[in-house]
Amino acid sequence: MSNGKPHKPGMTPPQGMHKGLTNYGDLDFSVFLRRAFIKGAGYTDDALDRLVIGIANTSSAYNPCHGNADQLVEAVKRGVMLAGGLPMEFPTISIHESFAQPTSMYVRNLMSMDTEEMIRAQPMDAVVLIGGCDKTVPAQLMGGASAGVPAISLVTGSMLTGSHRSERVGACTDCRRFWAKYRAEEIDAEEVSSVNNQLVASVGTCSVMGTASTMACLAEALGIMLPGGASPPAVTAERIRIAERTGATAVQMIKHGLTPDKILTGKAFENALRVLLAIGGSTNGIIHLTAIAGRLGIEIDLDQLDAMGEETPVLVDLKPSGQHYMEDFNKAGGMPALLRELKPLLHLDAMTVTGRTPGEEIERSGAGFKQEVVRQLVAPIYPRGGIAVLHGNLAPGGAIIKQSAADVKLMEHEGRAVVFENIQDMAQRIDDDALDVNADDVLVLKNIGPKGAPGMPEAGYLPIPKKLGRAGVKDMVRISDGRMSGTAAGTIVLHVMPEAAIGGTLAYVQSGDRIRLSISRRELTLLISEEELARRAHAHHVEPPTGERGYHKLFLERVTQADQGVDFDFLRAPQFVAKIPRAR
Ligand code: FES
Repeated sequence: MSNGKPHKPGMTPPQGMHKGLTNYGDLDFSVFLRRAFIKGAGYTDDALDRLVIGIANTSSAYNPCHGNADQLVEAVKRGVMLAGGLPMEFPTISIHESFAQPTSMYVRNLMSMDTEEMIRAQPMDAVVLIGGCDKTVPAQLMGGASAGVPAISLVTGSMLTGSHRSERVGACTDCRRFWAKYRAEEIDAEEVSSVNNQLVASVGTCSVMGTASTMACLAEALGIMLPGGASPPAVTAERIRIAERTGATAVQMIKHGLTPDKILTGKAFENALRVLLAIGGSTNGIIHLTAIAGRLGIEIDLDQLDAMGEETPVLVDLKPSGQHYMEDFNKAGGMPALLRELKPLLHLDAMTVTGRTPGEEIERSGAGFKQEVVRQLVAPIYPRGGIAVLHGNLAPGGAIIKQSAADVKLMEHEGRAVVFENIQDMAQRIDDDALDVNADDVLVLKNIGPKGAPGMPEAGYLPIPKKLGRAGVKDMVRISDGRMSGTAAGTIVLHVMPEAAIGGTLAYVQSGDRIRLSISRRELTLLISEEELARRAHAHHVEPPTGERGYHKLFLERVTQADQGVDFDFLRAPQFVAKIPRAR
């Protein structure tokens, strides 16, 4: 490239500031004008002739999980410049779990569209995607996969753990545990207020294997993040160094032509699914991987995922399935330690952002060392994958359960349904002492699916009714068409498909019906006759919800079910080229 000259047809594809010119009907003028404007910010021709690395900055006052994003941006810029590129930071939507109404999932697709279109609209030869909180990494990978320029993921890193009366605590498994204690009147208002100061001890993402940590690990397993990039906590020097190296790597990726389709292959997604099972990862990970894969024409087969689970033990001992926190995982060697252990089960010939294969990266990570967080294959913390896929007349399209976080005594269970029609109904009645409920019952919550709430809230973790909590009940079978936070635990059936709001069987369950859950048989059955089910469906026809205007209308008209990643149908690949995981 030379100063201010437009790209000539027939030459190599446009790069840097010559990419994606604004359309004025005169390309020469477009370049001239662009350079004039950016020079207003003090750039020299030398800087403007470099390869451009976009940096998606998701810093937001509403997002403490990204509280270090600005610091990371500076380090990424340093890395880009050390490698000879020009860093260009730009803002996108940022989503925090507790600051997104009605749910963060509702705006995930909007963030993916924002990310994709801003990558397309602005000149950049590669992009660094700085995410962290639950929905941000999937949104960025969905958008990045669709945009097609070399993309590398950088997460903000996990928060530190706090201490409550000498007990180590961290968001958000302990948030739920202490709240359940408060509801059961085991602790008072003063203590629950005191622990509130300790649960989130620093900026960064939740400190357990919740959705954010899960997605960080999956991004590394996919090869779209630097090796070792998933686990360093937000406030460490290691996190900053990862950021610098990420910037430098982005420049190299352009030279190697490492576009997302070269990295995010069927093999990469199989590796990620393997890791999802082995870390006892969040159930949300399935939905997000399905959505990312769907952008590239790759379908995830839930039944084969279940089969994969039978041969993939849980090796990472982190809450909520285990004992430790993300900072412990990092000290134990992080993802390289896990991938080394999982080596016999991985595709070692996939591709990563470094231009090397996972097999080569595992070799480069060196020998392991003695630690207690990443178990050996021969000594897992749970013998098979954390997630099981259920079928039956209550979930003709399937449902899932995180079996590694379920109560063993409830894994084979038949009980009477206690039904809540929606979230409001549940909120009004669940703590009513007059509610007819006992510990053996099955709590059913309808209308929290993708269209139901809308936005598939993480309300699948129904609270134990107060009067049962006071009596010492810690877990019950709970069923819904919604999701659950990756930080939650219990015998909880999620993602029931089709959802109640579009007339799935769930819509017709009534209090007093009997329901059978058998994890060993992968069964979820509503114990009524087909005739009775048909009679109820005929008597109570369900009309899917519609929106009045704007994004709400778009969402309700075009959002898909969980088995398609809850993505918009028009954002998925027009053609599907692979179905994974393949049977071994
Ligand atoms: Fe952001 Fe948990 S709330 S990662």
